[in-house]
Amino acid sequence: MDERREATRIAYDTVAAAYAAALPDLAYEAPLDRAMIAEVVRELPEGASVLDAGCGTGRLLAHLRAERPSLHLVGVDLSEGMLEQASRVASDVELVGADLAALPFADARFDAVMAWYSVIHTPAEDLSEVFREIARVSTSGAPVLVAFQVGSGERTVRRAYGRDVNLTAYLHTPSDVASALEAADLVIQASLVRSPRATEAHSQAVVLARKRVS
Ligand SMILES: C[S@@+](CC[C@H](N)C(=O)[O-])C[C@H]1O[C@@H](n2cnc3c(N)ncnc32)[C@H](O)[C@@H]1O
Repeated sequence: MDERREATRIAYDTVAAAYAAALPDLAYEAPLDRAMIAEVVRELPEGASVLDAGCGTGRLLAHLRAERPSLHLVGVDLSEGMLEQASRVASDVELVGADLAALPFADARFDAVMAWYSVIHTPAEDLSEVFREIARVSTSGAPVLVAFQVGSGERTVRRAYGRDVNLTAYLHTPSDVASALEAADLVIQASLVRSPRATEAHSQAVVLARKRVS
């Protein structure tokens, strides 16, 4: 594992319990952001297979399970500490430790993929390798949802959730994300960019793309 991914893994292992306590569910998410999730869930057939790519402590998985009990859910994350927390709230979900750029799943395994604030530690130039992996494991026409903070540049995070960490976070422009998605054969369907709320330092974006129908 390279230095950046290793630093991300260590940082999230460090904050895992505090993160789970601070953000136990999707209640913090803005209604507009949750509407993008609902739009994807709405179209999924019974028993569809969904990958939460960078599932963290599993709050999105728990939400999906509550919304649609029939979904076959899988969560993947770099951080074993985050996955351990996820196992508490999403006990019937398959949880896998892996890098988004090297997913240990067969081609076309998933009917939908969500990357909810999980590409925020990936620099813009590496986004397309992550999206190529997501496209590879997606079925033809599958929705792919990507949420991130909007902007450009990177910052080093030294303190998070009350813990000392050494973590690099990247802001992304919607056009960089769209280009990387398109380069991976994921066609943009909708792009939400909203202003920051009082608690947020940046605008937020949620992009809905779809694996090109083959
Ligand atoms: C801000 S948290 C978001 C977690 C969860 N999606 C949520 O909304 O609560 C970012 C998560 O992405 C994971 N992550 C970051 N880069 C990753 C990578 N290259 N491969 C796998 N997981 C990654 C981190 O370990 C962390 O759990």
